[in-house]
Amino acid sequence: MDKFIIKGGTPLKGEVTISGAKNAVVAEIPAVILADEPCVLENVPDIADVSISLRILYEMGADVNKLGDGVYRIDATKIKDSIVPYELARHMRASYYFLGTLLGKFHRARVAMPGGCYLGDRPIDQHLKAFSALGADCSLDNGMVDINADMLIGSQIYFDKITVGGTINAILASVKATGLTIIENAAKEPHIVDLANFLNSMGADIMGAGTDVIKIRGVKHLKGTQYAIIPDQIEAGTYMVAAAATKGDVLIKNVIPKHLESITQKLAKIGVNVEEYDDSVRISVDGPLVKTSIKTMPHPGFPTDMQPQFSTLLCLAEGTSIVTEDIFNNRFRYVDELRRMGADISVEGRVAVIEGVGKFSGAPVTAPDLRAGAALVIAGLAASGVTEIDDIYHIERGYENIEQKLRSLGADIIKKSVPGSSVRKIEAG
Ligand code: EPU
Repeated sequence: MDKFIIKGGTPLKGEVTISGAKNAVVAEIPAVILADEPCVLENVPDIADVSISLRILYEMGADVNKLGDGVYRIDATKIKDSIVPYELARHMRASYYFLGTLLGKFHRARVAMPGGCYLGDRPIDQHLKAFSALGADCSLDNGMVDINADMLIGSQIYFDKITVGGTINAILASVKATGLTIIENAAKEPHIVDLANFLNSMGADIMGAGTDVIKIRGVKHLKGTQYAIIPDQIEAGTYMVAAAATKGDVLIKNVIPKHLESITQKLAKIGVNVEEYDDSVRISVDGPLVKTSIKTMPHPGFPTDMQPQFSTLLCLAEGTSIVTEDIFNNRFRYVDELRRMGADISVEGRVAVIEGVGKFSGAPVTAPDLRAGAALVIAGLAASGVTEIDDIYHIERGYENIEQKLRSLGADIIKKSVPGSSVRKIEAG
């Protein structure tokens, strides 16, 4: 199992370029199945979740060709089967997007139930509710989600809870349904808008993505397209926090500043300087970092995917901060690891009380999941001494070339391969 070894204490300085968005691409790769012609995707990040998604398409019979850095031509027109077995689906929670896309294309889907609940309960009842509203029968047998519909008919779908995955699956399943589908209480994340733009560029008729009511008029055919994926706002936010935690000065390029608003506002409250440009942000620190309160919420609120990184930063701030996790019920598993580095955090249910300690000291730690792993990298960069982070495959699921990018900013980080690697666990994402 590979690990990162970080000698901390160096302020990050320089420029870093943000890659394509993980949570957009893991929906857009399966969405290619809906097209009746090949598609070209650009700005595809080189991360493990992309390799897994492409692998699933390939194993199902698609032609996948890499045309250049981050550019893939995918011809999924030969896929005839609507089954994604456990062996393929188990590596990535987002494999549930094959449910929506296969249902939308073939009116049937059989996909292994997503496993691994690392952030707490992650049911898919709202996904199934959307499929049922479109006329599909859903059942679970032998760990497989089985969905069948004689035909898909546009319908009204009201989500009881705002769900990113459910909204995306409802769009994928309804884009070729007969008539009008109206999704209410939809998620508004930038990757939902990106998916709608991608499908519209294939000839879909989706309106309102980015608001809480999305209207989809079904079309018979979707054509091929060439489409560049939006930059990853969580990767950008992670580098913003890393720059702040090390009291560095970093220009973060290829971002959409509007997508970063909630992150930018919190950083400013903590005492971090944020300068916004058209497609970049500059982060610097010239004064003390101070406490704040954070509550995670669906977009445009503060993203749960930035909660561990900010909690780490708040350990370095003066005063007592309160962080409330309102999306997932088990997203503080990194706290024990941070405590090993000197953090003073107490967790009661979904609320963490963080006493500013001003510094970390290096220690061996283990990444419990993707964003928690990123938080430990940030702690290691800010710490005195050496931090060794195990289980970095979690981090590599979602961050392209993190170690090279950090090294280019002056960080002392290396990846060490440890022989006798253990089996990868399924993970949320
Ligand atoms: N929920 C239900 N029923 C459902 C679906 C969701 O009760 O049918 C609940 C969940 O248990 C959770 C809340 O609704 O409490 C929100 O879940 P959501 O469906 O929005 O999350 P997700 O689609 O499973 C995606 C991202 C996560 C990100 C969340 C929230 C992908 C592949 N994953 O998950 O990303 O945290 O939205 O923004 O897009 C990550 O990138 O590290 C990551 C975990």
